Amino acid sequence: MPIMEKGLVINHQQLAQDMYVMEFLAPSIAKECKPGQFLHVRPGNTNDPLLRRPLSLYDVDQEKGSISLLYRVVGKGTDLLTGLKVNDYIDIMGPLGRGFSLPESPKNALLVGGGVGIAPLVYLGRVLKERECQVTVMCGAANAGQLVVDDKFQQLDITFLSATIDGSAGYKGLVTDLLVTQVKPGGFDIIYTCGPEPMMDLVALYAAIHHIWGEVSLEEHMACGVGACLGCARRLKASDETYAKVCKDGPVFNMKEVEF
Ligand SMILES: Cc1cc2nc3c(=O)[nH]c(=O)nc-3n(C[C@H](O)[C@H](O)[C@H](O)COP(=O)(O)OP(=O)(O)OC[C@H]3O[C@@H](n4cnc5c(N)ncnc54)[C@H](O)[C@@H]3O)c2cc1C
Ligand code: FES
Repeated sequence: MPIMEKGLVINHQQLAQDMYVMEFLAPSIAKECKPGQFLHVRPGNTNDPLLRRPLSLYDVDQEKGSISLLYRVVGKGTDLLTGLKVNDYIDIMGPLGRGFSLPESPKNALLVGGGVGIAPLVYLGRVLKERECQVTVMCGAANAGQLVVDDKFQQLDITFLSATIDGSAGYKGLVTDLLVTQVKPGGFDIIYTCGPEPMMDLVALYAAIHHIWGEVSLEEHMACGVGACLGCARRLKASDETYAKVCKDGPVFNMKEVEF
């Protein structure tokens, strides 16, 4: 059952022109969280916007009882969030959805994120390291200013490779070009990816060609967030007769289940 909680904001920082990270205390939800799940966040105190907004668990500190979100401002809801200050409360519901499958034994894992799709891969990276996995992260962004999480991965002792479209940091080009040209096939047992669909499509193709097991995290517009309204329903493959509810059956799916 999802929990409703008012999180006490303890840190809220702007990381780039349109990117923010917010940490709040929400111990009841924090202790239930798993990487890849999300929170449904009420952006303001009025009915405009009416619907909650889904945001991934960027990081969770279960001992402290805190949760962090990394978000990009794209519209009214995320813009309203920027107004929350330390000691304000954020209205959240969660944890929601099916998260990433975690390996039983240590594995060599590759995490590929694009844009703000990197958000759920930080908490995933932390938990994989706790399970003694080798973890490599590849992150694609428009420019160096948008690469806002490299220090998080360094703190976790995770290998971090970046690709920027303008070449201002790391490899110049798409993160999928970096993957195809620089990564030795066979070096990884597991791939997880989150970001723009064309990127995830190519990552899934790479995994299929090299017979690597993998999962993708999908984004859909959501209303209820708990599987009750069909607002997020999508056919995972064109030939599917039924629709998956991304909020409840996902947002994480096996790569083989999804056709982009
Ligand atoms: C499971 C899940 C996890 C997410 N995690 C994060 C996260 O960690 N950080 C983050 O910044 N964003 C995340 N998102 C996207 C985030 O939910 C949307 O950006 C947010 O709801 C936009 O709200 P808004 O009111 O600011 O913009 P709106 O005014 O609602 O929309 C602004 C623009 O964004 C588009 N948009 C809105 N919601 C979505 C969506 N779900 N998918 C694709 N396009 C959308 C709209 O079509 C419109 O063009 C996640 C989405 C899902 C489904
Ligand atoms: S958002 Fe209502 S069913 Fe998924």
